[in-house]
Amino acid sequence: MAKLLIFGCFFPGVRRNKGSLYRIWPCVTLRTPESRFRSRPRFSFPHRAALESVRSDTQAPESLSGLTDWNHDMSRRRRVYEGKAKVLYEGPEPGTLIQHFKDDATAFDATKRATIEGKGVLNNRISEFIFTRLNEIGVPTHFIRSLNMREQLIREVEIIPCEVVVRNVAAGSLSKRLGIEEGTMLPRSIIEFYYKNDELHDPMVSEEHITAFGWATPQEIDDMMALALRINDFLTGLFLGVGIRLVDFKVEFGRLYEGDMVRVVLADEISPDCCRLWDIRTNDKLDKDRFRRDMGGLVEAYQEVARRLGVLVENEPKRRGGPTLVK
Ligand code: TMP
Ligand code: ASP
Repeated sequence: MAKLLIFGCFFPGVRRNKGSLYRIWPCVTLRTPESRFRSRPRFSFPHRAALESVRSDTQAPESLSGLTDWNHDMSRRRRVYEGKAKVLYEGPEPGTLIQHFKDDATAFDATKRATIEGKGVLNNRISEFIFTRLNEIGVPTHFIRSLNMREQLIREVEIIPCEVVVRNVAAGSLSKRLGIEEGTMLPRSIIEFYYKNDELHDPMVSEEHITAFGWATPQEIDDMMALALRINDFLTGLFLGVGIRLVDFKVEFGRLYEGDMVRVVLADEISPDCCRLWDIRTNDKLDKDRFRRDMGGLVEAYQEVARRLGVLVENEPKRRGGPTLVK
């Protein structure tokens, strides 16, 4: 690995080759001064009682935040951006940010809102697990390391204003728009782009729109599509192994600037907030559709996903080693 790092540092030509670049990427993330903290802290899940009640009207009690800020003085941080479900703070060194997962849930362009205790913790843990696995297989991401139960250290990237949706099974807006019954297997995975603009309700756009209006270059579109399909293949298998069907998901990408190099990396999060996840046997929804469709039981569903992936410790030491195979 040391050889790879030195090779990557001193032979920047290698970096122009996407394959090599992607392969050395996990090493690059380990090169940071934080590398001494690299071993991932294992969290217990101490507030089960709090998670059992899904509240829709109040902020999470600050007693939970005792779990969240044990290694950062939040009052001194500069807030860089606040979105619907996450806050970005300035990171400990240039080029880094802290991504904080809130308990807020929104749907339909934030016309529907709630605060769901424990959602942020679960999404942080699930997303951290997935991004770590993706880094390991050479998919470049903004993720550096976990900080605490709600926060992760990430690389600062320039978000490309296009949401990329990959679909394997008909559901949601595809079913509505094209009249295809929910649950119909698609003949192949379908990629769609949506322009990130709340005022316009994130309209679906074509590659022509994206390049004509300069939101991304043709090369960046190619990179996003190739990465989205690799992510889809990986996640489909990961979830299938734990008895979950990956129906569809949305991802966002960013431009990572390194010297005179720019490359496209996976950003934002991958969690049940931005995926459709159905139990393989019962078709039970284990994702944010439970909130969108007023089904209730959102935290329990997210907990189930976390438990199956092996990231929910909750007094179950045997489950700490990763996903549990469902046969
Ligand atoms: P859709 O069927 O509503 O277009 O959603 C497709 C996927 O994208 C689904 O997994 C949910 C996710 N998604 C988001 O993450 N954010 C959004 O704002 C929307 C509309 C969908
Ligand atoms: N991004 C949507 C919103 O604007 C939420 C969703 O449907 O996922 O609130």
